Amino acid sequence: MAPVYDMRYDSEMGRAYHRHISSALLEGLPRGKYLLDLGCGTGLFMRRYGETGGDAIGLDISRGMIENARGRCNGFEFCMGTAEELPFRDQTFDAISCLLAFSYLTNPSWMLAEASRILKPGGKIAVCTLSRTMLTSLVPAIYRLGELIDVRHIGVGDFGERYYTEDEMVILFSEAGFHDIRVKRVSFAHISLKKPIFEIARKMEPFVEQRMPSLAYNILATGRKPGLIGDPGP
Ligand SMILES: C[S@@+](CC[C@H](N)C(=O)[O-])C[C@H]1O[C@@H](n2cnc3c(N)ncnc32)[C@H](O)[C@@H]1O
Repeated sequence: MAPVYDMRYDSEMGRAYHRHISSALLEGLPRGKYLLDLGCGTGLFMRRYGETGGDAIGLDISRGMIENARGRCNGFEFCMGTAEELPFRDQTFDAISCLLAFSYLTNPSWMLAEASRILKPGGKIAVCTLSRTMLTSLVPAIYRLGELIDVRHIGVGDFGERYYTEDEMVILFSEAGFHDIRVKRVSFAHISLKKPIFEIARKMEPFVEQRMPSLAYNILATGRKPGLIGDPGP
């Protein structure tokens, strides 16, 4: 996907979609700190985090994605590997982000345990991933149908993604020992919609996210590593 990935977000719709979910992710993280971005892809979120004055390392399993990210994020460091086994010392980072990559992990609980280990006490984690809803339950079948009749969009297809509910995210985060766990659904205007429908969905997005969250496409989970002196607990 690396050579074509950015084409997906290189349009008004693509930029609006990515900006919306990046903003939601950013709200759950401290600004201007030391961040590890897991599944950093071509560095879209890292560049955004850098605008807050922060420093970041990006980790991705794909060499091609990292090469593209290097071009985008001057001065940041990158590391190739799986998010399920992190080559960093305990208590290294102030913040960990994972945008649209959690759904590809075979062992999400390993990633969260590793994240907890390498965060400093009081450090924050924010994960934005595909949510399981009535609508998204149909998506894998639609992708497969699209492939059968040879209708393809860049970056769209059945990659065996997993979809998560609020309860599943809360359980995974609390098993990894995070406190202050908050989960909410985000995004209704999805990039794969046709432009006129995208525009309508975008106008409805704030209403859907607040009042009809079960229709939102992604889920955002945030948490804090305990351990600060006088920690108030979960
Ligand atoms: C949909 S892209 C998201 C990229 C980026 N975070 C963004 O928002 O544009 C998913 C990324 O996850 C990476 N990925 C998939 N499995 C991974 C794993 N086990 N460990 C680290 N990265 C992984 C892929 O290589 C890809 O770059």
